[in-house]
Amino acid sequence: MSDEDARRWDARHGAVDAVGPLPPDALRGRLDLLPSGGLALDVACGRGAVSRWLAERGFVVDAVDVSPVALATVAEVEGVRAVRADLDLGLPPVCAGPYDVVVCQRFRDPALYPTFVERLAPGGLLVVTVLSEVDDEPGPFRAPAGELEGAFAGLDVLLQREVDGEAHIVARAVRADPASSARAP
Ligand SMILES: C[S@@+](CC[C@H](N)C(=O)[O-])C[C@H]1O[C@@H](n2cnc3c(N)ncnc32)[C@H](O)[C@@H]1O
Repeated sequence: MSDEDARRWDARHGAVDAVGPLPPDALRGRLDLLPSGGLALDVACGRGAVSRWLAERGFVVDAVDVSPVALATVAEVEGVRAVRADLDLGLPPVCAGPYDVVVCQRFRDPALYPTFVERLAPGGLLVVTVLSEVDDEPGPFRAPAGELEGAFAGLDVLLQREVDGEAHIVARAVRADPASSARAP
């Protein structure tokens, strides 16, 4: 990310009060899908509404963003580790996981999708919301129809919708089959 873009995000975060705690949008009405606790990753966390919500539910949260202004609020929350990183360079190595929950909301970088899957623990939950071209204009920040479903086809997709300019997916990493490892020599 350019210095100018980073400054723009800082200014934007500095101009609004912290909000939340709030559940991830994709999980609204399906909070039963959330594991009971563990390690969580909030990608491009902003001012940390979702990180705070996860921490309140007992998760230990790695909250990643490029903006120090945004992270200053998140860093005060007990149970949250604020990680400053430019995600254009990928997820930072300190966020190795494995994570019981990975949330990425309103930040779209398809190059990161395989990394989200790699960092999930077996049975871990992926929760993604991005801007979508469905019911809206095409644009560089919007996912074309079917992007999330295609990217996460290897997971067990629990919930998927594309409507009104947003795409959501909730999917679970497939657990290893104990029977197949029992058969291994
Ligand atoms: C629209 S906000 C979404 C914040 C939060 N996930 C939410 O749902 O409220 C996008 C976030 O991505 C962060 N961001 C943008 N580009 C980034 C990059 N290259 N690396 C890390 N964070 C980035 C911004 O600082 C901002 O907090």
